[in-house]
Amino acid sequence: MRNVELFIFARVLHVIGIVLWIGGVAFVTTVLIPALRSLSDTRKRFELFEKLERRFALQAKIVTVITGLSGFYMTWFLNAWSRYTDPAFWWMHLMTLVWFIFTLVLFVLEPAFLHRWFSQQAAKDSENAFKWLQRLHVILLTLSLIAIMGAVAGTRGFSFF
Ligand code: HEM
Repeated sequence: MRNVELFIFARVLHVIGIVLWIGGVAFVTTVLIPALRSLSDTRKRFELFEKLERRFALQAKIVTVITGLSGFYMTWFLNAWSRYTDPAFWWMHLMTLVWFIFTLVLFVLEPAFLHRWFSQQAAKDSENAFKWLQRLHVILLTLSLIAIMGAVAGTRGFSFF
């Protein structure tokens, strides 16, 4: 495959990865967590959350790797590393930050302590634990959507300054 075709392929993978990943985050944030919060049985609420979000976590892990690899490949292909020193490319910083936060949570913090800590918090005070869970998801989803907006407009030459 010619290099340009490989670049286009990486871009396709990047976007498909983002659809599966951020689309899933949107579903968890706007549908799953609010639905779970409306359940009065707090044990059932936690059990369902475990079952559903853990399943999504596997998908998220796979697409995080695909999105990261394709993103870094495109940066290398375009020799675009200097964008990281240019504030006009704030969306490159934001994309990388979003990727870094999810990678840290999924691959390091969750297995290390977050999973255990959340189940303890949910057992102690389920309402509060799920309220904070939703807040954090809203923040991450908002950052992701701003990154997508900036990247789609920025790659087509739109200047935000
Ligand atoms: C390691 C992390 C990432 C790197 C290094 C990276 C890098 C890149 C590069 C180099 C491009 C092409 C830019 C151009 O053609 O000038 C791109 C496009 C794009 N990226 Fe990322 N990216 C990363 C993560 C993400 C994440 C987490 C998101 C979503 C939240 C995202 C969303 C997008 C979008 C929407 C495009 C534009 C696609 C298009 O319209 O063709 N990227 N990325």
